[in-house]
Amino acid sequence: MADNEGNIDAKNFGIGIPQKQEGFFLKGNENASYGIKSRLSQVFNQKSGHTVMLAFDHGFIMGPTSGLERIDLTINPLIQYSDCIMCTRGILRAVVPPTCNKPLSLRFDAGTTILTSLNDETLEDIEEAIRLNATLLAVMVAVGDPDHEGSTIRNLTKTVDMGSRYGIPTLGVTAVGKGLGRDARYLGLATRVCAENGANVVKTYYCAEGFESVANCCPVPIVIAGGKKLPERDALQLAYDAISKGAAGVDMGRNIFQSDCPVGMLLAVREVVHNGATVDQAFDCYETYKAQNK
Ligand code: R5P
Repeated sequence: MADNEGNIDAKNFGIGIPQKQEGFFLKGNENASYGIKSRLSQVFNQKSGHTVMLAFDHGFIMGPTSGLERIDLTINPLIQYSDCIMCTRGILRAVVPPTCNKPLSLRFDAGTTILTSLNDETLEDIEEAIRLNATLLAVMVAVGDPDHEGSTIRNLTKTVDMGSRYGIPTLGVTAVGKGLGRDARYLGLATRVCAENGANVVKTYYCAEGFESVANCCPVPIVIAGGKKLPERDALQLAYDAISKGAAGVDMGRNIFQSDCPVGMLLAVREVVHNGATVDQAFDCYETYKAQNK
């Protein structure tokens, strides 16, 4: 309880010293609200400016993907090595321990599967995202899909509006689907559309030709998906190339959880993303961990 008597008078006013003003460390988010900046600071490492997100939301369009049959057995032990997890609310509630204390990129849309047309999506309730303590709201945007472009852009816009109301940032996810390209022209357009419509972060794919222009023309940070399983060294090369050319991180799934040593792979990816490791150094990290943990 505050006392009325015997208090020490305040005297350290810092006269002459301007109040410290920190610029925000992530591009394009300087003018975001306090809540959005605070949540982004949980997802991205402030020292490196980068993030390693662990994606295991594949089941919502693909069913029990290889490596995700028993998330409690295969993914939960990996969570501690990631900076953020990305999953659906169903898996979160059913399997992920609330004690894991990791930032959550919540799959905020739900829709059609690989059995039909993909990308016909609806949104969850913002109250549900708040109940689940979401750090980031992930929404698919199917730029170039004649059937779903408009509706998915509307989904992104609504998500940005709802998230902004409560200080929760939005991750625009460029879609997969038949006929949707993966070259710099397409990815540059798709990522820019996400950012222009208010996404705080954009997730896309890496392309060997012209990725620098994709990353540079997107005014907010880009994280890349890993895509289909590659040999470990190739996946590390992908991460290295993406970071070298301007990505702010990875949101990787299959190249982690389908590896023969998922923890080793995750640690190796972290070396690239946060510590500037070369591909050789990162591959050595993966192999060393694997050899020591047979
Ligand atoms: C796909 O359904 C999801 O958006 C995945 O989170 C995304 O593709 C990243 O996973 P992966 O590295 O396996 O491509």
